[in-house]
Amino acid sequence: MDTLVHDALLNKQNLKQILSTDKYDEKLFELARETALSVFGNRIYIRGLIEFTNHCKNGCYYCGINRENNNVERYRLSLDEILECCRKGDKLGFKTFVLQGGEDGYYSNARVVEMIRAIKKEFPNHALTLSIGERSYEAYKSFYDAGADRYLLRHETCTLEHYSKLHPDDMSLFNRLNCLKNLKNIGFQTGCGIMVGSPYQTIDNIVDDILYMYDFNPQMIGIGPFIAHKDTIFRDMPDGSVEMTLRILAIMRILLPHVLLPATTALGTLDKKGREKGILAGANVLMPNLSPLKDRKKYSLYNNKICTGEEAAESIEKLKKSISKIGYELVSDRGDYKD
Ligand code: 5AD
Repeated sequence: MDTLVHDALLNKQNLKQILSTDKYDEKLFELARETALSVFGNRIYIRGLIEFTNHCKNGCYYCGINRENNNVERYRLSLDEILECCRKGDKLGFKTFVLQGGEDGYYSNARVVEMIRAIKKEFPNHALTLSIGERSYEAYKSFYDAGADRYLLRHETCTLEHYSKLHPDDMSLFNRLNCLKNLKNIGFQTGCGIMVGSPYQTIDNIVDDILYMYDFNPQMIGIGPFIAHKDTIFRDMPDGSVEMTLRILAIMRILLPHVLLPATTALGTLDKKGREKGILAGANVLMPNLSPLKDRKKYSLYNNKICTGEEAAESIEKLKKSISKIGYELVSDRGDYKD
């Protein structure tokens, strides 16, 4: 890897310049792609995403399932339904299940532990990722001890001023970052991340997020464009940029060559070729949707979220074909983080 470029990317001025123009894109994407190829080859890991509840106690201004939105038809999956999703995913070749949901008190720590145990009992060799928000150190530890392997918790922004424009006063950036530290200390493969082009985000904010992510050195990073949701106060805000998202993906790939980096659903929503473009900018993970078809549309974080096309787990064969067209191969592998 080009250490000169790597070191140059740790400089705020350089980062600002790279993010402010498309002049460097070609070189940047090429280097990111080479970096990913040297670590993972042309192998793309897949994760089966199970959105098991859209109830949420939080009021994040950007999110379509926030507590204030009365237009959402709320749902919860039973443990049996969740296990059914896992069985379907297993048959399709998934070796990682991602359980994602709003912050839903119904799933008490004890219920989450029960859910982890049940999944791990039936699928002891599969990896289990949780994405269920902020909980106490003790709760996280009990999830880890029950067998969960990974945890996704985007920090959204590491700048306090920006954080307070995206979240109501009852949420705290300090707590969020502290949760991330706890998760990593406990031993989870831990993921942080941001939305690109979220309302009021500046280039300086993005630069600080890139440096924060580099310092935190997570095993996974989730980066997708912000997309407005019609029932939120940000309904008229512009969507994030695909180009900018690709640049940030590429920079993170170069800075953290081993990191697990998905081409996100939001990227695929804004651009038909978003997933492919993400991979060509250094991403190495895709997360097709395994949620029950009857509930899929209800997990609407942003407008027009794709969920029944190639990003649907049941269309995995189609996805395989599109990815092979750009020279990559979907693999049936746990795809753990390796140094
Ligand atoms: N646009 C894009 N991404 C969003 N998320 C939530 N709302 C939106 C939106 N409107 C992302 C957040 C969250 C993840 C699960 O989805 O970053 O952490």
